[in-house]
Amino acid sequence: MEDLTPARSSLDPIEIASLDEIQALQLKRMRWSLNHAYKNVPLYKAKFDAAGVHPDDLKSLADLAKFPFTVKQDLRDNYPFGMFAVPKDQIARVHASSGTTGQPTVVGYTKNDIDMWADMVARSMRASGTRAGDVVHVAYGYGLFTGGLGAHYGAERLGCTVVPVSGGMTPRQVRLIEDFGASTIMVTPSYMLSILDEYRALGRDPRESPLNVGIFGAEPWTSAMRAEVEAAFDMHAVDIYGLSEIMGPGVANECVETKDGLHIWEDHFYPEIINPETGEVVEDGQEGELVFTTLTKEGLPIIRYRTRDLTRLLPGSARSMRRMEKITGRTVDMIILRGVNVFPTQIEEQIMAVEALAPHFQIELTRTGRMDEMTVHVEATTDAAGAEAREASARLLGKKIKSIVGVSALIDVTEPGAVERSQGKAVRVVDSRPKE
Ligand code: DLL
Repeated sequence: MEDLTPARSSLDPIEIASLDEIQALQLKRMRWSLNHAYKNVPLYKAKFDAAGVHPDDLKSLADLAKFPFTVKQDLRDNYPFGMFAVPKDQIARVHASSGTTGQPTVVGYTKNDIDMWADMVARSMRASGTRAGDVVHVAYGYGLFTGGLGAHYGAERLGCTVVPVSGGMTPRQVRLIEDFGASTIMVTPSYMLSILDEYRALGRDPRESPLNVGIFGAEPWTSAMRAEVEAAFDMHAVDIYGLSEIMGPGVANECVETKDGLHIWEDHFYPEIINPETGEVVEDGQEGELVFTTLTKEGLPIIRYRTRDLTRLLPGSARSMRRMEKITGRTVDMIILRGVNVFPTQIEEQIMAVEALAPHFQIELTRTGRMDEMTVHVEATTDAAGAEAREASARLLGKKIKSIVGVSALIDVTEPGAVERSQGKAVRVVDSRPKE
């Protein structure tokens, strides 16, 4: 693969500044953000007052731990615009979550917020190895989801030619990548696998595609999946992270030269890791729930937002800012099966280790009597789709899951194409247990 390390001179100076410099900037901005939230959002005034803290109590970055958390329910309770900190005529755009699991959460941006967002996505893309002049194929969904438009504005900011395809119509995705000569693709990792299947179905060699960088995020994916996609397309695959409550894509991104976790753009988003049960802040290096405080957002400042994503913080490497390890899972996706905690990414890892299996899978939870059961539906590769081969790979996967993940699972190896495909975020867990 081509060396796409960006020139040091092309980076924002803060990306390679000293820790002292970064922390001084963070403290200044954190003071501003706490004050902005306290003065302009009734919910924050009430929360801070109830906790007996005032923005002036912030003397050091560690003092942030004195302030109360924000959770998704706060946004729902204040639906739609109750947490905006500026008059409505200064909100230039809104995005919203799909609301499939409850009331949608709405987020708002001022012109400056959108500008900062474009800068952070451009910075993320540069870290990924994309350059001005590249053709960028955006297959994240456009609309209320932050993926499509977030990627779009960032790619424009970097000086790229943007192809705003959005998700779906997979054969057309392949045609446009080839005809327009896209060198970067931005898409969920699960939809990238559908695009890969389409290349193969069309009899085209994905290694001959013009793509050399894939910027994948919006859902958890494993290093094993990275290896598979990189080999299939002969391209770099890097991880992009973000969430709408904090901004959208581009809160953190991997560097193409190291691929060792995602640098958090800490000049705008301050991370903490907490013990999800006690809410205590844990040391860098320890695993827990990721919490973010926005430092510069005007429209919707967020203080100590509990992301429900599990990871740990690591020191800077290719950039000075700290890294977060690839997300292992979300507290909400954790399956507790007969006392053992299981994340879909752990199942993905084992599937990737069985050669005769394709990386398309779904986990189904059922209940027989009082016993919860987990069934892994996964596809055979076309070369190993016969009944005997499928049985053998089911046995092998069952054994691996039992010995490495520590649970017994039923394995259903299907024919190629039988597992539901996503065009955005994959649905990994289907809960068919009777409702309590
Ligand atoms: O998924 C924003 C985004 C769009 C990120 C495109 C990257 C690329 P939401 O729909 O609000 O926003 O979902 C946020 O998705 O809390 C994580 O659980 C998950 N997530 C996002 N990026 C990653 C990633 C967008 N790289 C939620 N790895 C987050 C693992 C991710 N999980």
